[in-house]
Amino acid sequence: MALGTWAWGDSGEVGDGYFGSQLTGPGLRKVVEKAHSNGFTLWDTAVVYGMGRSEAVLAQALKGYDRSEYQLSTKFTPQIAGDGDDPVADMLEQSLDRMGTDYVDLYWIHNPADVARWTPLLIPPLKSGKIKHVGVSNHNLEEIALADQILGEAGFRVEAVQNHYSLLYRSSERAGILDHCREHDVRFLSYMVLEQGALTGRYTAAGPLPEGSVRAAAYNGILPRLRALTDRMGRIGQDRGGSAADVATAWAIAKGTTPIVGVTKAGYIDGLVRARGIDLADEEIAELEALADAADVDTRGSWEHEM
Ligand SMILES: NC(=O)c1ccc[n+]([C@@H]2O[C@H](COP(=O)([O-])OP(=O)(O)OC[C@H]3O[C@@H](n4cnc5c(N)ncnc54)[C@H](OP(=O)(O)O)[C@@H]3O)[C@@H](O)[C@H]2O)c1
Repeated sequence: MALGTWAWGDSGEVGDGYFGSQLTGPGLRKVVEKAHSNGFTLWDTAVVYGMGRSEAVLAQALKGYDRSEYQLSTKFTPQIAGDGDDPVADMLEQSLDRMGTDYVDLYWIHNPADVARWTPLLIPPLKSGKIKHVGVSNHNLEEIALADQILGEAGFRVEAVQNHYSLLYRSSERAGILDHCREHDVRFLSYMVLEQGALTGRYTAAGPLPEGSVRAAAYNGILPRLRALTDRMGRIGQDRGGSAADVATAWAIAKGTTPIVGVTKAGYIDGLVRARGIDLADEEIAELEALADAADVDTRGSWEHEM
């Protein structure tokens, strides 16, 4: 499993940020310590998560650990590319600087703004070792194939795909991307398996997501329609000593994907440990997917295009 740090880029002020979370340096250090003591060491971030803030806060929280003890995953975001000769090299250099390291374990093209233009620029840092592995995010099958072909000509390949994939949002499965990844030995990392908290059962119409945050605007209106699903996940979780969130994560694992879960509290690491041990039966998976379909909601992010 991978650990997501988008929320770590929030300002910390209520109502001022994407998540509206109140996170502190010492609190996040506890998240890191608990994650590492349970064997979770792959950290996912991006320049655009708080415009550098997530990368910087993550590096701070990882201080004292040897670089070989954790893996960093960050992204080139085409929409904020500069106008220098090599915008990928420039953005990568800034990420390395903020994270106090000289290499990124897993570097992503954040979205497929122009695959033919941006993918070739990954080849020099792959050759120099500043990037160890490459993945593409929010790409459809054709875009994945094009990126793979471009990298293939230089002896590299797309090694991972990172797309939105949850009980409520299964477009990558319907579009054949999960099958493609399985057949071509490409790791599929599923993001937003908890739909930013909406699928955990913790947030309800009576106790909604933090007012003023972007995720509240996206999800608070649909929380009542998720109730049957989150209640059922809660009961399945209870039978296994876990929670609805653990079941949502276990579902993503059962589908053959590697979930990237946004961890904001040390206690959530216990959930990942439990999720790892929950084996969902085929009938349970089918029941949860039917309840998710019945909720009839569209949780596609504003940054995503159709798969
Ligand atoms: N490539 C892309 O375009 C893209 C897009 C989106 C996300 N991502 C990556 O994927 C990661 C995950 O996505 P996300 O953080 O947006 O959403 P997520 O993982 O679906 O949800 C994270 C939220 O769920 C709650 N949570 C986490 N663990 C929980 C648990 N065990 N029990 C109850 N609640 C729990 C927390 O909310 P509270 O703090 O309110 O408790 C947390 O902020 C991101 O951090 C980022 O690294 C990538």
